[in-house]
Amino acid sequence: MTAHEDGCGVVNDIDPTTPNPARIYDYLLGGKDNFPADRHAAEELLNVVPQARQGARQNRAFLQRAVRADLRQPEAILDHPQVRGVLDFTQPVAMLLIAVLHFIRDAEHPVGIVTTLREAMAPGSFLVLSHATADFHPDVAAKVTAIYQQASAPLVLRTRAQIERFFDGFDLVEPGLVQPAAWRPHDARPGMPAAGGFYSGVGRRPSAEPTPSTTRR
Ligand SMILES: C[S@@+](CC[C@H](N)C(=O)[O-])C[C@H]1O[C@@H](n2cnc3c(N)ncnc32)[C@H](O)[C@@H]1O
Repeated sequence: MTAHEDGCGVVNDIDPTTPNPARIYDYLLGGKDNFPADRHAAEELLNVVPQARQGARQNRAFLQRAVRADLRQPEAILDHPQVRGVLDFTQPVAMLLIAVLHFIRDAEHPVGIVTTLREAMAPGSFLVLSHATADFHPDVAAKVTAIYQQASAPLVLRTRAQIERFFDGFDLVEPGLVQPAAWRPHDARPGMPAAGGFYSGVGRRPSAEPTPSTTRR
């Protein structure tokens, strides 16, 4: 077993000698993130099930079709029968908007989108959000933004105050809106520099205010 750092400061235990289902699947899909032990297991599988590669690809294509929900249509997401089939919005839920809102232009009303999603969430729900920013390294951020101008969606960097607005009405849990590496790190090793491109936070919808009881006479 070897301790492996993934470049983001996350230390994982990886055993390259034991076939791993995710890496076997990666090999079947034609990926590069696999070791000889995974490839060997996958080839054994292909001997037993020659159509396994085709099955993995059809499964991946299914996944891509099934998750084609556009964040810019929050009502369609909330009203979708498959969403309603698995999520009970009368109960607390957790919603993850990780590194996605910065692909929504201001003209597409990101605050309105998140407000619609937040309002559907019962008290006790959590909103987990991270968002790119130029607050820490404006020079680098300008270059990164320029690169995304050529992409299918531009990168819209927002300030701390703009990102805080996404949590309106929710209470930010400790430690608040911080750089990702500073959000409850497992191992706060000294000298590990924060990447500096994002804010991350978790907000909780507070319990509903108790309705004032009617005074009986
Ligand atoms: C940086 S990746 C983050 C992916 C994932 N949330 C994670 O943290 O691993 C940005 C993701 O935003 C998705 N995305 C961009 N615009 C979107 C939109 N309008 N609706 C839904 N997803 C969108 C992209 O498809 C991509 O998967």
